[in-house]
Amino acid sequence: MSCHKNVYITTPIYYVNDIAHIGHAYTTIIADTIARYSRMSGLDTFFLTGTDEHGQKIEESAKARGKSSQAYADEISATFRNLWDDFHITYDKFIRTTDEDHKKGVQKAFNTMYENGDIYKDVYKGHYCISCETFFPKSQLVDDEFCPECGKSTVIVEEESYFFKLSKYQDKLLEWYNNNPECILPKSKRNEVIRFVEGGLEDLSITRTSFDWGVKLPENLNDPKHVMYVWLDALMNYVTALGYGTDEKNMHYWPARVHLIGKDILRFHAIYWPAFLMSLGLPLPKHIAAHGWWTRDGEKMSKSKGNVVNPREVADAYGLDNFRYFLLREVPFGGDGDFSQKALIDRINSDLGNDLGNLLNRLIGMSDKYFEGKIDSTHVAKYYQTELNEVESYLDRLEPLLFEMQIHRYLEELWRPLAVANKSIDKYQPWTLIKEGKEEEVMALNGLIAGILAKVATMLYPVMPEICTKIAEALHFEINTENWQKLIKDKKLLETFTIEKIPPLFPRIEELLLAQPQTVVQKTEEKPVKKEEKKNVEKKEEGIALIGIDQFFQTSLKVGTVVAAEEVPKSAKLLLLQVDLGEEHPRQIVAGIKEWYSAQDMLGTQVCVVANLKPAKLMGYTSEGMLLAAKDENGLCMIRPEKPKKSGTSIG
Ligand code: MSP
Repeated sequence: MSCHKNVYITTPIYYVNDIAHIGHAYTTIIADTIARYSRMSGLDTFFLTGTDEHGQKIEESAKARGKSSQAYADEISATFRNLWDDFHITYDKFIRTTDEDHKKGVQKAFNTMYENGDIYKDVYKGHYCISCETFFPKSQLVDDEFCPECGKSTVIVEEESYFFKLSKYQDKLLEWYNNNPECILPKSKRNEVIRFVEGGLEDLSITRTSFDWGVKLPENLNDPKHVMYVWLDALMNYVTALGYGTDEKNMHYWPARVHLIGKDILRFHAIYWPAFLMSLGLPLPKHIAAHGWWTRDGEKMSKSKGNVVNPREVADAYGLDNFRYFLLREVPFGGDGDFSQKALIDRINSDLGNDLGNLLNRLIGMSDKYFEGKIDSTHVAKYYQTELNEVESYLDRLEPLLFEMQIHRYLEELWRPLAVANKSIDKYQPWTLIKEGKEEEVMALNGLIAGILAKVATMLYPVMPEICTKIAEALHFEINTENWQKLIKDKKLLETFTIEKIPPLFPRIEELLLAQPQTVVQKTEEKPVKKEEKKNVEKKEEGIALIGIDQFFQTSLKVGTVVAAEEVPKSAKLLLLQVDLGEEHPRQIVAGIKEWYSAQDMLGTQVCVVANLKPAKLMGYTSEGMLLAAKDENGLCMIRPEKPKKSGTSIG
């Protein structure tokens, strides 16, 4: 890594036909992490993201909403940019393919390829998938009609087209893959690409005449009915963003250190893109790194199922840094990952709360109790050289893991020094040492732990910038290149300081609260609500967070009849109800309504039930739903159907 002074990192540019989901956030957060590390280690870094705005799919989405393509693209592009801004993504440029200088750069590239004899005009006939913006040979179609990628129906397109001589680059591409074993990461993906290219490459149709939402051909070709194929237009963003074809002032960042992408768009990046670059006479990227696919609770996400994970909602509820950590820690890069609340909560409570947060709390406690908060590292090596050596040997291995995209391993390894620190406290028992009058040894132990925390916070900063800044504040140092050099490269410890008593960084999260963020039960149970979560609930109550109709219909609301009711023993607030929802068995629902309704009041009445909540346990009883109720300063009342309705009738 250190031999490359400039580091250029890119994400795919996202289509503007939908708002951002967890997959987009994942790629962008990985790229942000690498960019932050790269900057912290003193490298001149350029991080690019943006939106892909042309093509038939977007033209059609805009039309369906009665908007011009440009107005529609403006609107959706802004939602991406706003999300990344709210997520503190440190991009250096946000490119839009509708930017004038991008379009000029693409035209310049087209001309250059044309002049180099790599573009010719012919007629194209083939099956085209509008949704994937890709032609497929008949042999690849499912049942001779459907797209092998997305399953949608393809259309037959026959039109005059310009072609790029992709076939000419077959051998050169194979040579590149063979001479650069790390050009495609993870390495297993490289073999897939090699096999595909060895199977033979056909020339690529790179213009369209059937619609016009795209970059026009250069004027000198005098062929105004053609627009460029959206993938040619899109891939070129990686160089036009640096000024290719216009103001080339940032072209010194080229070639990219890494193009981060999802596995579904590997072919475009690993075959078309290097071939275009070869034709343009530009150097090839160092790495193309393809990550896997996210599912939710084991299922593929889709708009029709309504189970798409919205990154903003997750970050609002659980904390942005926690979400970043989860995404990067949970799956090996390149593998598929599953998002579930449980997995996320486990990571927060265990890795972050127990291993990291508690260590800081312990240090605050010990230094406060024994030394009024003072921490002096002078004698650490005298007593704890073995621990120091162990910690340094772990830290030495980290950097390459990050740049090889083994980010889950990076985090796994980064937790080893924390384990050393936690174990040292148990092993040396400072509370005993102090009784024996060994103050210097205890102070050195505190110095060791503070040093480990400072080093870990520095290396974790690219993943969890906000949290690590707080840790650094508590330890009175700043995370910057100079201190990275001191703590990580020169293996130094912290100067003497007085620790800041900060509140716990990872208050424990209970699954119940998150599964049912706004239930009556939650409010009457009076469990501590996380700060971010409270904010989120308040926001929603003020009506700021708008949801779409799809989100509303994710909730299954039903009319139910209370067929049995009793009090939950030893609880001042809870009733235990059996509610008939027209299913085989009544549902058991634990409701926090006893202050306002007795079991007798509820028996035989009709209620409105949220029927698709994850079951939760309350005082040992499983609750399989939630009742709708309204509460103001005068108390709580149930929401019920105005006239009797059959049990199980849907509401909506
Ligand atoms: N516009 C093209 C990229 C052009 S780059 C020159 C595009 N856009 S996209 O918005 O459809 O997808 C962007 C990225 O999101 C891709 O890397 C894709 O792999 C990723 N993901 C889409 N769904 C995903 C998951 N469910 N999980 C993880 N990533 C996913 O393709």
